[in-house]
Amino acid sequence: MSRVLIVDDEDGIRDILRDILQDEQYTVFSAADGIEGLDVLRHHPIDVVLLDVWLPRMGGIDVLKEIKANYTDTEVVIISGHGNIDLAVKAVKLGAFDFLEKPLSLEKVLTVVKNALQIETLKKENRRLRNSMVHEDEILGETPPMQKVRTLIGQSAGSDSRILILGDNGTGKELVAREIHRKSRRAAGPFVEVNCAAIPDALIESELFGHEKGAFTGAVSRRKGKFELADGGTLFLDEIADMSLSAQAKVLRAVQEMTFERIGGEDSITVDVRVIAATNKDIQAEIKAGRFREDLFFRLNVIPIQMPALRERAADLPLLLAYFMEKFRPSADVPVKRFADDAMAFLTEFSWPGNVRELKNFAERINIMSDEEVVSLETVRYYLGEVTGDSGYEPSGIDEFLDMGLSEARENFERRFLVRKLAENENNISRTAQDMGIYPSNLHAKIKKYGIEIER
Ligand SMILES: Nc1ncnc2c1ncn2[C@@H]1O[C@H](COP(=O)(O)OP(=O)(O)OP(=O)(O)O)[C@@H](O)[C@H]1O
Ligand SMILES: [Mg+2]
Repeated sequence: MSRVLIVDDEDGIRDILRDILQDEQYTVFSAADGIEGLDVLRHHPIDVVLLDVWLPRMGGIDVLKEIKANYTDTEVVIISGHGNIDLAVKAVKLGAFDFLEKPLSLEKVLTVVKNALQIETLKKENRRLRNSMVHEDEILGETPPMQKVRTLIGQSAGSDSRILILGDNGTGKELVAREIHRKSRRAAGPFVEVNCAAIPDALIESELFGHEKGAFTGAVSRRKGKFELADGGTLFLDEIADMSLSAQAKVLRAVQEMTFERIGGEDSITVDVRVIAATNKDIQAEIKAGRFREDLFFRLNVIPIQMPALRERAADLPLLLAYFMEKFRPSADVPVKRFADDAMAFLTEFSWPGNVRELKNFAERINIMSDEEVVSLETVRYYLGEVTGDSGYEPSGIDEFLDMGLSEARENFERRFLVRKLAENENNISRTAQDMGIYPSNLHAKIKKYGIEIER
Protein backbone atom coordinates (compact mmCIF):
# COMPACT_ATOMS: atom_id res chain seq x y z
CA MET A 1 0.00 0.00 0.00
CA SER A 2 1.46 3.33 -1.01
CA ARG A 3 1.98 6.07 1.56
CA VAL A 4 1.25 9.71 0.94
CA LEU A 5 2.08 12.60 3.22
CA ILE A 6 0.18 15.89 2.96
CA VAL A 7 1.97 18.97 4.25
CA ASP A 8 -0.31 22.01 4.20
CA ASP A 9 -1.25 24.58 6.81
CA GLU A 10 -4.88 24.83 5.69
CA ASP A 11 -7.05 22.33 7.56
CA GLY A 12 -9.61 22.29 4.77
CA ILE A 13 -7.10 21.28 2.10
CA ARG A 14 -5.62 18.56 4.30
CA ASP A 15 -9.08 17.11 4.95
CA ILE A 16 -10.16 17.08 1.32
CA LEU A 17 -6.89 15.58 0.12
CA ARG A 18 -6.97 12.98 2.86
CA ASP A 19 -10.49 11.93 1.88
CA ILE A 20 -9.85 11.49 -1.81
CA LEU A 21 -6.50 9.75 -1.29
CA GLN A 22 -7.95 7.38 1.27
CA ASP A 23 -10.72 6.55 -1.17
CA GLU A 24 -7.99 5.41 -3.53
CA GLN A 25 -6.64 3.08 -0.82
CA TYR A 26 -3.52 5.10 -0.05
CA THR A 27 -2.26 5.31 3.50
CA VAL A 28 -2.36 9.00 4.29
CA PHE A 29 -0.34 11.02 6.79
CA SER A 30 -0.69 14.75 7.25
CA ALA A 31 1.21 17.61 8.81
CA ALA A 32 0.40 21.27 9.30
CA ASP A 33 3.88 22.57 8.57
CA GLY A 34 7.30 21.55 7.30
CA ILE A 35 8.86 20.72 10.65
CA GLU A 36 5.98 18.42 11.48
CA GLY A 37 6.19 16.96 7.98
CA LEU A 38 9.87 16.11 8.32
CA ASP A 39 9.09 14.50 11.64
CA VAL A 40 6.58 12.20 9.95
CA LEU A 41 9.20 11.30 7.34
CA ARG A 42 11.64 10.33 10.05
CA HIS A 43 9.20 7.78 11.40
CA HIS A 44 7.44 6.42 8.36
CA PRO A 45 8.60 5.50 4.89
CA ILE A 46 6.69 7.83 2.59
CA ASP A 47 6.34 7.37 -1.16
CA VAL A 48 4.89 10.72 -2.16
CA VAL A 49 4.71 14.06 -0.34
CA LEU A 50 2.17 16.69 -1.35
CA LEU A 51 3.94 19.82 -0.18
CA ASP A 52 2.53 23.31 0.06
CA VAL A 53 5.22 25.70 -1.06
CA TRP A 54 4.09 28.45 1.31
CA LEU A 55 4.37 27.25 4.89
CA PRO A 56 4.87 28.75 8.34
CA ARG A 57 8.09 28.05 10.33
CA MET A 58 10.03 26.45 7.46
CA GLY A 59 9.44 27.28 3.82
CA GLY A 60 8.38 24.60 1.35
CA ILE A 61 11.59 24.95 -0.67
CA ASP A 62 13.72 24.20 2.39
CA VAL A 63 11.54 21.24 3.25
CA LEU A 64 11.94 19.99 -0.30
CA LYS A 65 15.73 20.28 -0.14
CA GLU A 66 15.73 18.36 3.10
CA ILE A 67 13.59 15.59 1.61
CA LYS A 68 15.67 15.31 -1.54
CA ALA A 69 18.86 15.12 0.49
CA ASN A 70 17.69 12.48 2.93
CA TYR A 71 14.93 10.43 1.33
CA THR A 72 16.00 9.58 -2.19
CA ASP A 73 13.05 7.26 -2.66
CA THR A 74 10.42 9.87 -1.84
CA GLU A 75 8.81 11.94 -4.60
CA VAL A 76 7.57 15.43 -3.86
CA VAL A 77 4.63 17.15 -5.53
CA ILE A 78 4.43 20.86 -4.84
CA ILE A 79 1.14 22.62 -4.16
CA SER A 80 1.32 26.26 -5.08
CA GLY A 81 -1.00 29.22 -4.87
CA HIS A 82 -1.62 31.56 -7.77
CA GLY A 83 0.87 34.08 -6.53
CA ASN A 84 3.85 31.79 -6.31
CA ILE A 85 4.14 29.79 -9.51
CA ASP A 86 7.76 30.94 -9.75
CA LEU A 87 8.49 29.15 -6.49
CA ALA A 88 6.85 26.03 -7.85
CA VAL A 89 9.02 26.16 -10.94
CA LYS A 90 12.08 26.56 -8.77
CA ALA A 91 10.96 23.54 -6.77
CA VAL A 92 10.75 21.39 -9.86
CA LYS A 93 14.29 22.42 -10.75
CA LEU A 94 15.32 21.31 -7.26
CA GLY A 95 13.92 17.87 -7.84
CA ALA A 96 10.18 18.09 -7.16
CA PHE A 97 8.30 15.69 -9.40
CA ASP A 98 5.60 18.15 -10.47
CA PHE A 99 3.41 20.93 -9.12
CA LEU A 100 -0.31 21.48 -8.66
CA GLU A 101 -1.96 24.87 -8.59
CA LYS A 102 -4.59 26.01 -6.15
CA PRO A 103 -7.54 25.80 -6.41
CA LEU A 104 -6.86 22.10 -6.68
CA SER A 105 -8.49 19.93 -9.29
CA LEU A 106 -9.01 16.69 -7.39
CA GLU A 107 -8.79 14.66 -10.56
CA LYS A 108 -5.44 16.18 -11.36
CA VAL A 109 -4.19 15.49 -7.83
CA LEU A 110 -4.91 11.81 -8.26
CA THR A 111 -3.23 11.62 -11.66
CA VAL A 112 -0.09 13.36 -10.46
CA VAL A 113 0.17 11.19 -7.34
CA LYS A 114 -0.26 8.09 -9.46
CA ASN A 115 2.48 9.19 -11.85
CA ALA A 116 4.82 10.05 -9.02
CA LEU A 117 4.29 6.62 -7.52
CA GLN A 118 5.05 5.01 -10.83
CA ILE A 119 8.34 6.87 -11.10
CA GLU A 120 9.23 5.96 -7.58
CA THR A 121 8.62 2.26 -8.28
CA LEU A 122 10.68 2.42 -11.44
CA LYS A 123 13.56 4.04 -9.64
CA LYS A 124 13.58 1.33 -7.01
CA GLU A 125 13.38 -1.43 -9.59
CA ASN A 126 16.17 0.15 -11.54
CA ARG A 127 18.44 0.23 -8.56
CA ARG A 128 17.60 -3.35 -7.67
CA LEU A 129 18.57 -4.45 -11.17
CA ARG A 130 21.72 -2.41 -11.16
CA ASN A 131 22.72 -3.86 -7.81
CA SER A 132 22.08 -7.38 -8.89
CA MET A 133 24.17 -6.89 -12.01
CA VAL A 134 27.19 -5.03 -10.78
CA HIS A 135 27.10 -6.00 -7.20
CA GLU A 136 30.75 -6.95 -7.20
CA ASP A 137 33.72 -4.64 -7.33
CA GLU A 138 36.27 -4.84 -10.08
CA ILE A 139 39.66 -5.92 -8.89
CA LEU A 140 41.56 -2.67 -8.70
CA GLY A 141 45.28 -2.11 -8.20
CA GLU A 142 48.26 -1.38 -10.40
CA THR A 143 51.12 -2.10 -7.99
CA PRO A 144 53.40 -5.10 -8.71
CA PRO A 145 51.79 -7.40 -6.13
CA MET A 146 48.35 -6.76 -7.64
CA GLN A 147 49.67 -7.22 -11.16
CA LYS A 148 50.98 -10.56 -10.07
CA VAL A 149 47.56 -11.51 -8.70
CA ARG A 150 45.96 -10.50 -11.96
CA THR A 151 48.44 -12.55 -13.99
CA LEU A 152 47.77 -15.58 -11.81
CA ILE A 153 44.04 -15.17 -12.30
CA GLY A 154 44.52 -14.99 -16.05
CA GLN A 155 46.74 -18.05 -16.13
CA SER A 156 44.64 -20.23 -13.89
CA ALA A 157 41.10 -19.31 -14.83
CA GLY A 158 41.07 -21.38 -18.02
CA SER A 159 42.25 -24.58 -16.38
CA ASP A 160 40.38 -26.65 -13.85
CA SER A 161 43.21 -26.63 -11.37
CA ARG A 162 42.56 -26.15 -7.69
CA ILE A 163 43.52 -22.82 -6.23
CA LEU A 164 44.34 -21.76 -2.70
CA ILE A 165 43.97 -18.05 -1.96
CA LEU A 166 45.85 -16.76 1.07
CA GLY A 167 45.70 -13.34 2.65
CA ASP A 168 44.55 -11.29 5.60
CA ASN A 169 41.00 -10.16 6.31
CA GLY A 170 39.49 -7.99 3.65
CA THR A 171 42.29 -8.32 1.11
CA GLY A 172 39.95 -9.49 -1.64
CA LYS A 173 40.13 -13.29 -1.50
CA GLU A 174 36.49 -13.80 -2.29
CA LEU A 175 36.57 -11.20 -5.01
CA VAL A 176 39.40 -13.10 -6.69
CA ALA A 177 37.61 -16.44 -6.35
CA ARG A 178 34.52 -15.04 -8.05
CA GLU A 179 36.59 -13.46 -10.79
CA ILE A 180 38.30 -16.77 -11.53
CA HIS A 181 34.92 -18.44 -11.78
CA ARG A 182 33.63 -15.74 -14.11
CA LYS A 183 36.60 -16.11 -16.39
CA SER A 184 36.51 -19.91 -16.43
CA ARG A 185 34.68 -22.23 -18.79
CA ARG A 186 32.37 -22.87 -15.82
CA ALA A 187 31.12 -19.29 -15.78
CA ALA A 188 27.59 -20.31 -16.72
CA GLY A 189 27.59 -22.91 -13.95
CA PRO A 190 26.99 -22.22 -10.28
CA PHE A 191 29.42 -20.50 -7.91
CA VAL A 192 28.76 -21.99 -4.51
CA GLU A 193 30.35 -20.55 -1.41
CA VAL A 194 30.83 -22.35 1.90
CA ASN A 195 32.06 -20.43 4.88
CA CYS A 196 33.65 -23.29 6.80
CA ALA A 197 34.14 -21.16 9.91
CA ALA A 198 30.46 -20.38 10.21
CA ILE A 199 29.18 -23.95 10.21
CA PRO A 200 29.20 -25.89 13.47
CA ASP A 201 31.30 -28.99 13.33
CA ALA A 202 28.34 -31.31 13.76
CA LEU A 203 26.66 -29.90 10.67
CA ILE A 204 29.52 -29.45 8.28
CA GLU A 205 29.28 -32.87 6.74
CA SER A 206 25.62 -32.50 6.01
CA GLU A 207 26.25 -29.02 4.68
CA LEU A 208 28.93 -30.20 2.27
CA PHE A 209 27.57 -33.57 1.23
CA GLY A 210 23.86 -33.38 1.97
CA HIS A 211 21.72 -35.94 3.70
CA GLU A 212 18.87 -38.33 3.11
CA LYS A 213 15.53 -38.00 4.78
CA GLY A 214 15.70 -39.33 8.31
CA ALA A 215 19.52 -39.54 8.39
CA PHE A 216 19.50 -37.85 11.77
CA THR A 217 17.05 -36.06 14.06
CA GLY A 218 15.91 -33.00 12.23
CA ALA A 219 16.63 -34.35 8.75
CA VAL A 220 13.01 -34.13 7.72
CA SER A 221 13.68 -34.28 4.03
CA ARG A 222 16.47 -35.08 1.64
CA ARG A 223 18.85 -32.21 1.13
CA LYS A 224 21.62 -31.63 -1.37
CA GLY A 225 25.01 -30.57 -0.08
CA LYS A 226 27.22 -27.83 -1.44
CA PHE A 227 29.39 -30.21 -3.45
CA GLU A 228 26.31 -31.38 -5.29
CA LEU A 229 24.92 -27.88 -5.73
CA ALA A 230 28.21 -26.79 -7.29
CA ASP A 231 28.12 -29.53 -9.93
CA GLY A 232 29.31 -28.07 -13.22
CA GLY A 233 30.61 -24.97 -11.48
CA THR A 234 32.95 -23.79 -8.76
CA LEU A 235 32.92 -24.57 -5.05
CA PHE A 236 34.52 -21.87 -2.93
CA LEU A 237 35.65 -23.26 0.43
CA ASP A 238 36.21 -20.11 2.43
CA GLU A 239 38.04 -20.10 5.79
CA ILE A 240 39.17 -23.63 5.09
CA ALA A 241 41.65 -23.67 8.00
CA ASP A 242 38.77 -23.30 10.45
CA MET A 243 37.44 -26.73 9.62
CA SER A 244 37.88 -29.60 12.10
CA LEU A 245 40.34 -32.39 11.31
CA SER A 246 37.54 -34.90 10.86
CA ALA A 247 35.79 -32.66 8.36
CA GLN A 248 39.11 -32.13 6.59
CA ALA A 249 39.45 -35.88 6.12
CA LYS A 250 36.10 -36.05 4.38
CA VAL A 251 36.80 -33.04 2.23
CA LEU A 252 40.10 -34.57 1.23
CA ARG A 253 38.38 -37.61 -0.16
CA ALA A 254 35.71 -35.60 -1.95
CA VAL A 255 38.28 -33.28 -3.47
CA GLN A 256 40.43 -36.19 -4.60
CA GLU A 257 37.76 -38.39 -6.05
CA MET A 258 34.90 -36.01 -6.68
CA THR A 259 32.78 -38.72 -5.15
CA PHE A 260 30.93 -38.85 -1.86
CA GLU A 261 27.75 -40.13 -0.22
CA ARG A 262 25.00 -38.12 1.33
CA ILE A 263 24.72 -38.75 5.05
CA GLY A 264 22.43 -41.72 5.54
CA GLY A 265 22.66 -42.56 1.85
CA GLU A 266 24.20 -45.57 0.16
CA ASP A 267 24.75 -44.34 -3.37
CA SER A 268 27.96 -42.64 -4.31
CA ILE A 269 27.45 -39.34 -6.00
CA THR A 270 29.98 -38.13 -8.52
CA VAL A 271 30.24 -34.48 -9.41
CA ASP A 272 32.27 -32.20 -11.64
CA VAL A 273 33.39 -29.38 -9.41
CA ARG A 274 36.33 -27.03 -9.38
CA VAL A 275 37.48 -26.25 -5.86
CA ILE A 276 38.89 -22.89 -4.83
CA ALA A 277 39.83 -22.58 -1.17
CA ALA A 278 40.81 -19.58 0.91
CA THR A 279 42.03 -18.78 4.39
CA ASN A 280 43.35 -15.82 6.33
CA LYS A 281 45.32 -18.05 8.68
CA ASP A 282 49.00 -18.84 8.36
CA ILE A 283 48.41 -22.26 6.89
CA GLN A 284 51.99 -23.48 7.29
CA ALA A 285 51.77 -22.73 11.00
CA GLU A 286 48.44 -24.55 11.19
CA ILE A 287 50.03 -27.60 9.56
CA LYS A 288 52.98 -27.50 11.96
CA ALA A 289 50.62 -27.24 14.90
CA GLY A 290 48.76 -30.30 13.66
CA ARG A 291 45.55 -28.40 13.04
CA PHE A 292 45.54 -28.67 9.28
CA ARG A 293 46.16 -31.83 7.24
CA GLU A 294 49.22 -31.56 5.11
CA ASP A 295 47.82 -33.88 2.44
CA LEU A 296 44.74 -31.68 2.07
CA PHE A 297 46.97 -28.63 1.83
CA PHE A 298 48.88 -30.21 -1.07
CA ARG A 299 45.64 -31.13 -2.80
CA LEU A 300 44.24 -27.63 -2.56
CA ASN A 301 47.42 -25.70 -3.12
CA VAL A 302 47.94 -26.52 -6.80
CA ILE A 303 48.06 -22.83 -7.64
CA PRO A 304 48.63 -20.54 -4.63
CA ILE A 305 47.57 -16.92 -4.85
CA GLN A 306 48.84 -14.66 -2.09
CA MET A 307 46.80 -11.50 -1.59
CA PRO A 308 48.93 -8.55 -0.49
CA ALA A 309 47.90 -6.53 2.54
CA LEU A 310 46.78 -3.02 1.67
CA ARG A 311 49.75 -1.45 3.45
CA GLU A 312 52.08 -3.49 1.21
CA ARG A 313 50.58 -1.77 -1.77
CA ALA A 314 49.89 1.67 -0.40
CA ALA A 315 50.41 3.15 -3.86
CA ASP A 316 47.07 1.62 -4.85
CA LEU A 317 45.24 3.44 -2.11
CA PRO A 318 44.32 6.63 -3.99
CA LEU A 319 42.86 4.57 -6.81
CA LEU A 320 40.80 2.40 -4.49
CA LEU A 321 39.67 5.34 -2.41
CA ALA A 322 38.56 7.30 -5.48
CA TYR A 323 36.60 4.29 -6.67
CA PHE A 324 34.79 3.77 -3.38
CA MET A 325 34.12 7.49 -2.87
CA GLU A 326 32.44 7.55 -6.25
CA LYS A 327 30.60 4.32 -5.56
CA PHE A 328 29.09 5.57 -2.30
CA ARG A 329 28.30 9.07 -3.45
CA PRO A 330 24.69 9.67 -2.40
CA SER A 331 23.54 10.62 -5.88
CA ALA A 332 24.89 11.34 -9.32
CA ASP A 333 24.43 15.10 -9.03
CA VAL A 334 26.45 15.46 -5.84
CA PRO A 335 30.15 16.04 -6.51
CA VAL A 336 32.51 13.32 -5.32
CA LYS A 337 34.09 14.37 -2.05
CA ARG A 338 37.80 15.11 -2.02
CA PHE A 339 40.31 14.90 0.82
CA ALA A 340 42.47 17.68 2.20
CA ASP A 341 46.18 17.09 1.58
CA ASP A 342 47.00 16.27 5.19
CA ALA A 343 43.96 13.97 5.35
CA MET A 344 45.13 12.12 2.25
CA ALA A 345 48.64 11.80 3.66
CA PHE A 346 47.18 10.34 6.84
CA LEU A 347 45.13 7.82 4.90
CA THR A 348 48.14 6.70 2.90
CA GLU A 349 50.20 6.21 6.05
CA PHE A 350 47.44 4.43 7.93
CA SER A 351 48.04 0.73 8.63
CA TRP A 352 44.61 -0.53 7.43
CA PRO A 353 44.38 -3.66 9.56
CA GLY A 354 41.09 -4.48 7.86
CA ASN A 355 42.55 -3.90 4.41
CA VAL A 356 40.31 -3.09 1.43
CA ARG A 357 37.14 -3.95 3.30
CA GLU A 358 38.03 -1.39 5.94
CA LEU A 359 38.81 1.21 3.32
CA LYS A 360 35.50 0.52 1.63
CA ASN A 361 33.56 0.84 4.90
CA PHE A 362 35.40 4.03 5.66
CA ALA A 363 34.43 5.54 2.30
CA GLU A 364 30.83 4.56 2.84
CA ARG A 365 30.75 6.11 6.30
CA ILE A 366 32.29 9.34 5.19
CA ASN A 367 29.70 9.64 2.46
CA ILE A 368 26.84 9.02 4.83
CA MET A 369 28.07 10.96 7.81
CA SER A 370 30.12 13.93 6.66
CA ASP A 371 28.86 17.09 4.95
CA GLU A 372 32.31 18.31 4.04
CA GLU A 373 33.00 18.55 0.37
CA VAL A 374 36.72 18.52 1.10
CA VAL A 375 37.11 16.08 3.95
CA SER A 376 39.40 17.32 6.71
CA LEU A 377 42.07 15.44 8.62
CA GLU A 378 40.01 15.74 11.77
CA THR A 379 37.01 14.05 10.17
CA VAL A 380 39.17 11.31 8.71
CA ARG A 381 40.70 10.61 12.08
CA TYR A 382 37.33 10.56 13.73
CA TYR A 383 35.78 8.07 11.35
CA LEU A 384 38.86 5.90 11.15
CA GLY A 385 38.89 5.80 14.92
CA GLU A 386 35.35 4.60 14.90
CA VAL A 387 35.98 2.04 12.23
CA THR A 388 39.08 0.58 13.78
CA GLY A 389 38.52 1.32 17.46
CA ASP A 390 38.67 -1.63 19.76
CA SER A 391 35.13 -1.19 20.98
CA GLY A 392 34.42 -4.72 19.80
CA TYR A 393 32.10 -3.25 17.23
CA GLU A 394 32.52 -4.88 13.85
CA PRO A 395 31.95 -2.58 10.91
CA SER A 396 30.21 -4.42 8.15
CA GLY A 397 29.06 -2.01 5.46
CA ILE A 398 26.14 -3.09 3.35
CA ASP A 399 27.68 -6.16 1.73
CA GLU A 400 25.73 -8.59 3.80
CA PHE A 401 22.45 -6.98 2.76
CA LEU A 402 23.06 -7.09 -0.96
CA ASP A 403 21.51 -10.46 -1.56
CA MET A 404 18.26 -9.43 0.10
CA GLY A 405 15.27 -7.55 -1.22
CA LEU A 406 14.82 -4.02 0.03
CA SER A 407 12.28 -4.85 2.70
CA GLU A 408 14.19 -7.84 4.00
CA ALA A 409 17.37 -5.78 4.17
CA ARG A 410 15.57 -2.96 5.90
CA GLU A 411 14.05 -5.29 8.49
CA ASN A 412 17.34 -7.01 9.08
CA PHE A 413 19.05 -3.74 9.63
CA GLU A 414 16.25 -2.38 11.76
CA ARG A 415 16.25 -5.37 14.06
CA ARG A 416 19.98 -5.17 14.67
CA PHE A 417 19.86 -1.44 15.08
CA LEU A 418 17.14 -1.80 17.73
CA VAL A 419 18.99 -4.51 19.64
CA ARG A 420 22.08 -2.38 19.78
CA LYS A 421 20.35 0.84 20.72
CA LEU A 422 18.46 -0.96 23.45
CA ALA A 423 21.69 -2.39 24.82
CA GLU A 424 23.34 1.01 24.76
CA ASN A 425 20.45 2.45 26.75
CA GLU A 426 20.25 -0.43 29.21
CA ASN A 427 16.88 -1.48 27.82
CA ASN A 428 15.27 1.74 28.99
CA ILE A 429 12.44 2.18 26.48
CA SER A 430 11.88 5.90 26.68
CA ARG A 431 15.58 6.68 26.58
CA THR A 432 16.12 4.36 23.63
CA ALA A 433 13.18 5.85 21.79
CA GLN A 434 14.51 9.34 22.36
CA ASP A 435 17.98 8.29 21.27
CA MET A 436 16.54 6.91 18.04
CA GLY A 437 14.19 9.82 17.47
CA ILE A 438 10.99 7.79 17.56
CA TYR A 439 8.01 7.59 19.87
CA PRO A 440 8.11 5.04 22.69
CA SER A 441 4.87 3.50 21.41
CA ASN A 442 6.51 3.07 18.04
CA LEU A 443 9.51 1.43 19.69
CA HIS A 444 7.23 -0.94 21.62
CA ALA A 445 5.55 -1.95 18.40
CA LYS A 446 8.88 -2.66 16.76
CA ILE A 447 10.17 -4.68 19.69
CA LYS A 448 7.05 -6.77 19.46
CA LYS A 449 7.28 -7.07 15.69
CA TYR A 450 10.82 -8.39 15.83
CA GLY A 451 10.26 -10.50 18.94
CA ILE A 452 13.16 -8.86 20.75
CA GLU A 453 13.55 -10.15 24.30
CA ILE A 454 14.04 -7.42 26.87
CA GLU A 455 15.83 -8.46 30.02
CA ARG A 456 15.67 -6.27 33.04
N1 LIG B 1 41.48 -5.05 -5.29
C1 LIG B 1 40.25 -4.69 -4.98
N2 LIG B 1 39.61 -3.80 -5.75
C2 LIG B 1 38.34 -3.42 -5.44
N3 LIG B 1 37.65 -3.87 -4.38
C3 LIG B 1 38.24 -4.75 -3.58
C4 LIG B 1 39.57 -5.21 -3.83
N4 LIG B 1 39.91 -6.07 -2.87
C5 LIG B 1 38.83 -6.17 -2.06
N5 LIG B 1 37.83 -5.38 -2.47
C6 LIG B 1 36.52 -5.21 -1.82
O1 LIG B 1 36.74 -5.28 -0.42
C7 LIG B 1 35.77 -6.09 0.23
C8 LIG B 1 36.44 -7.26 0.90
O2 LIG B 1 36.89 -8.18 -0.09
P1 LIG B 1 36.72 -9.77 0.08
O3 LIG B 1 35.43 -10.11 0.75
O4 LIG B 1 36.99 -10.40 -1.22
O5 LIG B 1 37.91 -10.03 1.10
P2 LIG B 1 38.35 -11.37 1.85
O6 LIG B 1 39.80 -11.47 1.66
O7 LIG B 1 37.49 -12.50 1.41
O8 LIG B 1 38.06 -10.97 3.35
P3 LIG B 1 37.79 -11.92 4.64
O9 LIG B 1 39.05 -12.68 4.89
O10 LIG B 1 37.51 -10.94 5.70
O11 LIG B 1 36.65 -12.80 4.28
C9 LIG B 1 34.79 -6.50 -0.84
O12 LIG B 1 33.71 -5.61 -0.84
C10 LIG B 1 35.58 -6.38 -2.11
O13 LIG B 1 34.72 -6.12 -3.18
MG1 LIG C 1 36.18 -13.65 2.55
